[in-house]
Amino acid sequence: MALAMAFVTAPSLLLIDELSLGLSPMLVEQLLDSVRTMRDAGTSVLLVEQSVNVAVSVADRVYVMDSGSIRFSGSAVEVRDRPDLLWSIYLRHAAVGMGVEGDRAPTTVALAVPAVAAPADSSRDRVAALEVFEASVSFGGVNALEGVTLEAAPGEVVGVIGPNGAGKTTLFDVISGFTHAQRGRVALDGADVTSMAPAARSRLGLGRSFQDSRLFSGLSTHDTLAVALERFIDMGDPINAVLRLPVMVDTEAAVRLRVDELIELFGLQPFAGKFVSELSTGTRRLVDLATVVAHAPRIVLLDEPSSGIAQREVEAMADLLRRVQRHLFATFVVVEHDIAFVSELADRLVAFDRGSVIAEGSPSEVLARPEVVEAFLGRDAFARIGSGKALTALGAATEPGHSAKSEQ
Ligand SMILES: Nc1ncnc2c1ncn2[C@@H]1O[C@H](COP(=O)(O)OP(=O)(O)OP(=O)(O)O)[C@@H](O)[C@H]1O
Ligand SMILES: [Mg+2]
Repeated sequence: MALAMAFVTAPSLLLIDELSLGLSPMLVEQLLDSVRTMRDAGTSVLLVEQSVNVAVSVADRVYVMDSGSIRFSGSAVEVRDRPDLLWSIYLRHAAVGMGVEGDRAPTTVALAVPAVAAPADSSRDRVAALEVFEASVSFGGVNALEGVTLEAAPGEVVGVIGPNGAGKTTLFDVISGFTHAQRGRVALDGADVTSMAPAARSRLGLGRSFQDSRLFSGLSTHDTLAVALERFIDMGDPINAVLRLPVMVDTEAAVRLRVDELIELFGLQPFAGKFVSELSTGTRRLVDLATVVAHAPRIVLLDEPSSGIAQREVEAMADLLRRVQRHLFATFVVVEHDIAFVSELADRLVAFDRGSVIAEGSPSEVLARPEVVEAFLGRDAFARIGSGKALTALGAATEPGHSAKSEQ
């Protein structure tokens, strides 16, 4: 619809921000045809895209950006011929010795080592915090999920990666109950919740953020957090509120205390009285995150926590998420496009493509798999990188023993 509205005005320059976000490959192909038609009719098009496949299939010229600067530019053919370079930019810090423009000192990525040790009995003997078994969802002819099985142990941080339209958000919708899978089961702490509504799952300790943070723009940060807590506090009889009985006053005091705690945990003190509409995207994401953890959930699903925020905020976000995860000792499942960020955060990665799990394991294992490189960069990219070279670069970037931080 947004694209159609832009087409109507027959612009001489069309700016498109993320054409393929959340769309099926079939639909993206149709939209690309429309873009090509417009270009042939004389409109210049500037397309911002996370999907390299999509960008090189339509563009004449490609600029690859990272951390606020252009790291490489060239014709689409030149970009297609340098999958090694693209992959190293995807992994951000692995761009060592690969001829990438820019003078940033190379650093390596450290794997997150949980500070809170798992409780004495091995987590392997215990019930999984989250279990998805053989879940399938189709929308019309599109198979958004096909027989997906996934597990997360108590206190584990699982990263979910995959190109646009791979089914990541649909997976979260199935876990949280916003979409019912046509086949398969979901269990939280061993309890089958497949037929439960989202609110019931949330009362069992499930928290979730949305890809587009859903906040009331007319509320202040403080009030947003108070509203988030409201659902979990028994307000009793409304008469208590009307008469301002002591029980009501006590409840309000407890909410205020908890809101203050959250504001401190997320460093939101300067924004407590500001309206959500006045906040930057990064700060709004923090408020959104604070509402998700307000009721101390044991399982937290985060859909693209780093999207739309500046690079230095992404780094702060990784530290914060780790701090919050340790604070709650919760299980985190994090969907992310920023592979370097999620590799640093997660204990384990699960890679999706076209509705199925294509790889899982430690970040270094998953990122070195040919299927994963291909899903992001297109067919044969892995062969052109050369598996040995890719493995060396990725291994150096993600092995905990080689991390810059652990050597300090
Ligand atoms: N409500 C819906 N109706 C129809 N199709 C849908 C719906 N939700 C998702 N889809 C389709 O299901 C597929 C998976 O979408 P999903 O949003 O889960 O992908 P994603 O991996 O989260 O993508 P992105 O990285 O762009 O957010 C896509 O082909 C999408 O077009
Ligand atoms: Mg999504």
